[in-house]
Amino acid sequence: VLVFIGFMGAGKSTAARALGGVDTDAVLVERLGEPIEAFFDREGEAAFRAREEEVVLEVLASGVPVVALGGGAVLSERVQAALRDHVVVWLEVDGELAWRRAGGRGRPNARDRAGFHKRLAQRAPVYERIADAFVPVPGEIPVAALRALRKGQRLLWARAASGEYPVWLGRPPEREDGDFWISDANVGPLHAPDAFAIPAGEEHKTLATAESVWERMTAEGITRTGRVVAVGGGVVGDLAGFCAATYQRGIPVVHVPTTVVAQVDSAYGGKTGVDLPAAKNYVGAYHLPQAVHVLPETLESLPAAERAAGYAEVLKTALIAGGTLWERVAAGAAYDPETVLACARTKLAVVAADERDGGRRQVLNLGHTVGHALEVALGYGVLRHGEAVGLGMLAALRLSGQDALRQQVGELLAGHGLPVRAPVALDAAQIAQIAQRDKKRVGEEVPFVLVRAPGDVTEGHAVGRDDLLAAVRELTR
Ligand SMILES: NC(=O)c1ccc[n+]([C@@H]2O[C@H](COP(=O)([O-])OP(=O)(O)OC[C@H]3O[C@@H](n4cnc5c(N)ncnc54)[C@H](O)[C@@H]3O)[C@@H](O)[C@H]2O)c1
Repeated sequence: VLVFIGFMGAGKSTAARALGGVDTDAVLVERLGEPIEAFFDREGEAAFRAREEEVVLEVLASGVPVVALGGGAVLSERVQAALRDHVVVWLEVDGELAWRRAGGRGRPNARDRAGFHKRLAQRAPVYERIADAFVPVPGEIPVAALRALRKGQRLLWARAASGEYPVWLGRPPEREDGDFWISDANVGPLHAPDAFAIPAGEEHKTLATAESVWERMTAEGITRTGRVVAVGGGVVGDLAGFCAATYQRGIPVVHVPTTVVAQVDSAYGGKTGVDLPAAKNYVGAYHLPQAVHVLPETLESLPAAERAAGYAEVLKTALIAGGTLWERVAAGAAYDPETVLACARTKLAVVAADERDGGRRQVLNLGHTVGHALEVALGYGVLRHGEAVGLGMLAALRLSGQDALRQQVGELLAGHGLPVRAPVALDAAQIAQIAQRDKKRVGEEVPFVLVRAPGDVTEGHAVGRDDLLAAVRELTR
């Protein structure tokens, strides 16, 4: 059974009705013989929940293929237990939209705005915990993907301005005719033996490598009805995505991310590209994936140093998200599937708000302005991307005036085997100059991403040159 859960105003009943399903609230109204709010006001919430539980358990057991539950029904432990046998779809609605659709009337919990938002915040972690599929509203319900979902797998439905796509957790991609599988020399033998393998490493994320891929695709007769399937870390993903975006003016790409960096960050959002000798990611295209397949077990073969490097992106994402993700990461979580899922959700939400990097998406560059400059100054391959980002985050926290948080982040980085100092003495002036060439530059200023607190990260801050020099120098001491 497909079961829609979520807050008031998420559109659960409409979705269920459109699929020929049953809305448990409608059944309840029939049973009670009066509107829900009349019963609720007279008998109180506990009495209402008891009747609701009874109806929900009955409908779930009845064999109807699609069911919509009232917003609070999932708080019952018996309902949660019954849901374990079904595919649970959280229709995720933003608080403002929910209020516009359902607020100010109906049940007591929907009457005042503050109480409404508080309830939503309390319930979100419950929905998150029990959901198999996460579907943001508004938008079409991805029925085919939901029907394909099996228990034990999870599905995030990604929406952005230029398209939407499934992110599967625990579901490998299917092989199709016309696929071009690409990987690198390390990952291919382990996880995609038939794939075309490019040499491994950031130093190969170049136009020359892209050309070798285009040539191979041509030789294999790949056409626009085919697709690229990229199995690897961020280097393979970015480069394969770029080749897909440009080959015959664009064919689909499917990502199978195999590093922590790629599973929490780079596989989502459609940024693709290659490096130029003078600057990272300078040539590329936006090209949303057709699908992303996250297979947590692929991380088992990842070398410890790469895991550690990926931790920097986990930490960055947790700082951006705040809330339960930050709490979990601050308490030591790193690569477990729940954390990866929460990071992916954070990235998808940021991209949904701003696919083309006009504003909000820039928060994902927390630590990247100085991080990229360090990579360029030291030469690609000296610092891993994640190591550079970790150092960049420390600089950003210094520029944010966040001493205590900088300390805490430094300890978390060190605890995961990441450097909190550069491996060689840095030429601060040179690094500041490279940062100035950053492609996020607007006019003379490089806008910085700064942190006021976990969950309160904002883009577009001007930073004085002296402050920047000091923040970089501190990384050498
Ligand atoms: N597109 C985006 O939005 C975005 C976001 C963040 C980073 N990036 C890019 O991602 C790149 C960094 O990605 P990365 O850290 O994944 O590096 P990577 O792709 O170079 O992978 C790191 C190393 O691990 C190896 N490896 C990968 N998966 C493995 C596995 N499962 N088992 C054994 N070895 C494995 C690789 O061969 C490589 O040697 C950078 O180029 C960065 O610019 C892009």
